[in-house]
Order: sequence, then structure tokens, then C-alpha cells
Amino acid sequence: LRVAVIGGGTSCEHDVSLASAGAAGAALTEAGHDVVPLTIDRDGLWRDGDGSPIGLAGATEVLRGCAVAVPMLHGPGGEDGTLAALCDLVAVPYVGSALGASAIAMDKWVTKLVAEAVGVPTAPGRLVTRATAGEVAFSHPVVVKPVAAGSSYGVSMVRDASELSAALDAAFAVDDRVLVEDVVVGREIDLAVLGRSDGSRTVPPALEIVVPESGIFDLESKYDGSAVFKIPAPVTEAEQEALERAAVAVYDAVGCSGIARVDFFLTDTGPVLNEINTIPGFTEHSQVPRMFAADGMSYSDLLDVMVREATS
Ligand code: DAL
Ligand code: MG
Repeated sequence: LRVAVIGGGTSCEHDVSLASAGAAGAALTEAGHDVVPLTIDRDGLWRDGDGSPIGLAGATEVLRGCAVAVPMLHGPGGEDGTLAALCDLVAVPYVGSALGASAIAMDKWVTKLVAEAVGVPTAPGRLVTRATAGEVAFSHPVVVKPVAAGSSYGVSMVRDASELSAALDAAFAVDDRVLVEDVVVGREIDLAVLGRSDGSRTVPPALEIVVPESGIFDLESKYDGSAVFKIPAPVTEAEQEALERAAVAVYDAVGCSGIARVDFFLTDTGPVLNEINTIPGFTEHSQVPRMFAADGMSYSDLLDVMVREATS
């Protein structure tokens, strides 16, 4: 198939997106597809595979000539449904969630409301804007995070009252809406869900993130290789079942398609949802490809299944 792989983008996850798109493009080529790379610069300029500026009009022409698109743009301007909407307007099938599910999943506040509505617990927390941020008083450790961002950009752990104001500033630098959440004590467990066009859902073994010395799976440990993944996560059968049930419930309630990664804290009382990613990190060493590899599906086979599902 002629496959457009889109990377880069205007969000702070630009470099991560380039890594995901580069790796996915190489694997799809290996799987026998005719890969057409498209890149969006930090300022929004579209470029073709040679790096020539082609603009949005040029990019839509390229997309029209492809059988399927693979948006590999993490964060706002891509994962939030922007690229899904563009593909819909151009009438080219694409891998992953449509506009509505993407927008819901990008919004950590709305995701929380949806998850709670289907019985999946999330961390107690409140939404603040710059106008209401002054009402936040420190009484116990909290995590402060922008409502729409990824890769931990703008996220801080606040363990002491003196850290609160800097944490709020860092989050407001990324988004106008900020979540102040209780710290959940639990193990960090990720699940991958692959929804297929026949309605079935494939859920490979769960992955546990072994949190580095810093105590938080942050930007640095995400990409400097210091984070260690355990696959399958050492959980009981009952825990694996509870995690799978919660992951599929959130995936379906949000209305996802194709691949999504659903991140949990596994607590003494069961799984607590952290977030859902509709365009999760997708290098060969990222969580989702690693979980499928543990299930016997290679990286290029996984991508091949994703593009074939999108066109069926
Ligand atoms: N937002 C990053 C790419 C992830 O969730 O993997
Ligand atoms: Mg994320």
C-alpha cells in the first residue's frame, strides 16, 4: 500500500513524533509498503520526504494519492484529532482514532469524567484556570499537569507548599487549563488495546514501568533509556483481568479506534486510570510495540496490521 507517515508537528513533542514517524516508516517499508513521509515543522510548515516545503495544499495532494495515512504526531495539533479531521476532509483512511475520541483523550479532565462515568476510578483532582489557581491551597502532595499535553511536559510533583506556585506556572506555560491531582500510590502499569474493524479488541500483556530513582517517569527517563519496562507486568491473573476490563471500558467509552495505550496506577484497591493516549510513542522500543512483541507480534507486523485494519 502507498502509506503516508506524518511526523513532527507544532507541539512540544515534536522530536518524539519525529522518532515515532521515522521508526514506523522504516518498519512499514520493511513490511513491503510504499512509504511517503510527510513532516510538519515546529512552526507548522509541511515538508515532503525530501524536506522541500510543500505547504498544506501540497500535503493534501500527497495524502490524496495515498491508500492510508499514519499520523504519528503526539500531543496537540496531531493526537488531539487535528490530523484525523484533515484525513477525513481529504477522504483518506487513517490509522487510529477519529476526531471525537482523539479530542476527548487529549483532554485529561474530560477523560476523567468519561472514565468515572463507566466505573473506572481516576485520581481525585480539580481543574483550575489562571483565574482560580489562587484558590489552590497545599495540604498534601499533588501532581500538577496541563490538561492537554504529553510526554510529561509541564508536569510537576508538588511535595511541599513552597513548590506549588512554580508548578502551576510550569503547567500554565503549556495549557490554559491545569489539573491538580492527588498523588496516587500504586505501580505504573500500561495496557495496549488494538480495536479491529470486526469489533474485537486485542490486549497484549500489561507492561510495568519501573520508576527510576527520581521517583517519576518524567521526560528525561522516558527518552534517555533509563526507564525499565517489565513485560508481562508481574501482576496476578485477577489484576491482569481487572486492568484489561478497565482498559477496554475506557477505550470504548472514549470511542477509540485502532491502537490506544491506556495508562494506570495499580493500587491496593485496583486500577486507577492515569490517561489514555491515542497516538502513543511508537518507536520499536516504546511501550506499545514492546507489549505486542511480548505477545509474538513484531514491530513491522503490528504496523502492517494497523494500516490494513484502517483500510478494511
Ligand atoms: N505522549 C507520549 C508520546 C506517549 O504517551 O508515549
Ligand atoms: Mg501521554
